[in-house]
Amino acid sequence: MGSKNKLKRFNENDTFANVFQPKRNELVDAHYKLKGNWNALYFKNNNPLVLELGCGKGEYSVELAKKYPNKNFIGIDIKGARFWRGAKTAVEENISNVAFLRTQIELVDHAFAAHEVDEIWITFPDPQIKYKRTKHRMTNSEFLKRYKTILKPDGIMNLKTDSEFMHGYTLGLLHGEGHEVLYANHNVYKQEGSRGRSYKYSNPLRKYLFRAK
Ligand SMILES: C[S@@+](CC[C@H](N)C(=O)[O-])C[C@H]1O[C@@H](n2cnc3c(N)ncnc32)[C@H](O)[C@@H]1O
Repeated sequence: MGSKNKLKRFNENDTFANVFQPKRNELVDAHYKLKGNWNALYFKNNNPLVLELGCGKGEYSVELAKKYPNKNFIGIDIKGARFWRGAKTAVEENISNVAFLRTQIELVDHAFAAHEVDEIWITFPDPQIKYKRTKHRMTNSEFLKRYKTILKPDGIMNLKTDSEFMHGYTLGLLHGEGHEVLYANHNVYKQEGSRGRSYKYSNPLRKYLFRAK
């Protein structure tokens, strides 16, 4: 994407009521105004709050929002020019139960209060295979601790990945750290929803679920 196009998207993001782009110091040095208040101040209801971490273009968040109108969704990514797509679709189609937050996942516990979140989705994260990239892997031990903090005690995290490495790494870590794995599908050919739908997340892919203790 050219820098002109990116700039256009950044500018348009600024005009969308469903896009939030707090500066690092707003999150880290102060109590972010929406922390603990996403439902009360933005969604204005008490519906379950669901996050998609590393949402890319935000297609999955938008699709989930359409499918589950009684839940609130927030797609999070550091790349605003990517989730511009999802934010614009939500504005154009008047989908009010989805928003987008531009921040680093490392700061997620500064943007959400303890036990504020009902569910987390991580969809096709970069597996970050090299050892020195471990700190960037979105299911590493530090990230899991942050997710556990913001999730409700019975909250769940869903991971979808097509990476054999990510599969083994995450499953091993979840077991090793005492999380309860609710569901793990290894069969890449026999997963529900794998036929007849073009949406890419319906493709047969490995999927893991665990419940945070
Ligand atoms: C491989 S892409 C997947 C995008 C989308 N979930 C999908 O399935 O198409 C990973 C996304 O995670 C975002 N990402 C990776 N690490 C991140 C971090 N630490 N904080 C925020 N976003 C991050 C990237 O910007 C990118 O959009």
